[in-house]
Amino acid sequence: MFRAVGAAIALAGELSLLGRRPPVVAVRRELELVVRRVRAEASDVVSLLLTRADGDPAGPELPRWWPGAHLDVVLPSGRVRQYSLCGDPARRDGYRIAVRRIRDGAGGSREVHGLGEGARVRVRGPRSGFPLIRAPRYLFMAGGIGITPILPMVRAVAAAGADWRFVYAGRGRDSMPFLDEIGGLDPSRVVIWADDERGGPPSGEALVANAPGGGTVGYLCGPPPMLAAVRSAGASLAALHVERFAAPPVSGGRAFTVELARAGVSLEVPADRSALEVITERLPDVAYSCRQGFCGTCRTRVLAGAVEHRDRALTAPERAGTMTICVSRAEGERLVLDL
Ligand code: FES
Repeated sequence: MFRAVGAAIALAGELSLLGRRPPVVAVRRELELVVRRVRAEASDVVSLLLTRADGDPAGPELPRWWPGAHLDVVLPSGRVRQYSLCGDPARRDGYRIAVRRIRDGAGGSREVHGLGEGARVRVRGPRSGFPLIRAPRYLFMAGGIGITPILPMVRAVAAAGADWRFVYAGRGRDSMPFLDEIGGLDPSRVVIWADDERGGPPSGEALVANAPGGGTVGYLCGPPPMLAAVRSAGASLAALHVERFAAPPVSGGRAFTVELARAGVSLEVPADRSALEVITERLPDVAYSCRQGFCGTCRTRVLAGAVEHRDRALTAPERAGTMTICVSRAEGERLVLDL
């Protein structure tokens, strides 16, 4: 059986492919960067190159990052969103991110698409939540904009001389960013799967069939149906490392009541939903980013009640009196939050 592992768990006890252990703890550093270049990469997808605001090529290098790392981008509205770095880690003069516009989303992607060259943004990180670990063989699978963390991984593995295959799936070629760059990789190791050419998305079996041999470790970033398909078909994979588009389903949750002290309302959080999900229905401007318990953006002061902490963002002192409402829950029947 393959095992699906969270990124931080996957790293424990193992070295990164590049021989150094990338930081998985929260990075508090904040930088002000400028959008140096905006490029249309596919239908509804733009890439942004972010550089230091002074633009001085002889200025200090940007902090190092590893394939799989992301930035927290603080948008002019104050929204914080996470975007994987998809450029070349060796380039220390700029960070590249790519963003698909989600027309019915909460507004973060539309805001990014509205940023022009010269716009200033604050970023936090880079932070590695999806580290690339040493393995004998790799199968990379990307769906649509899921290419962003996967592309630097494929390049790193190819440069390191490991055995790898890469399946890149999308609705159609016009919606798939970076096909030109992928064209520069070894074509015998790459499968481009455009649904409109093949009659639909790949099955889990079709994806996993590309594994180059025993002991293959899978890396996947794509939509939930792609993940579900690989999970049900991935018995031959030694491990599966996943970067999610969406919040993970709640497991082992119990229902509780959350009281929002400042708003003066009490809300019921069912066993299969997160507090964040329920709270944003009433307070849509509550800050959040990863929805997976590792960025700390949704950290909220707890006024009463015991917390079952499920995050990977907060230290023990930070957990005293606060919680990440995207994943953590009440230990008892009720929590009172400073919201
Ligand atoms: S939104 Fe990232 S920890 Fe909650």
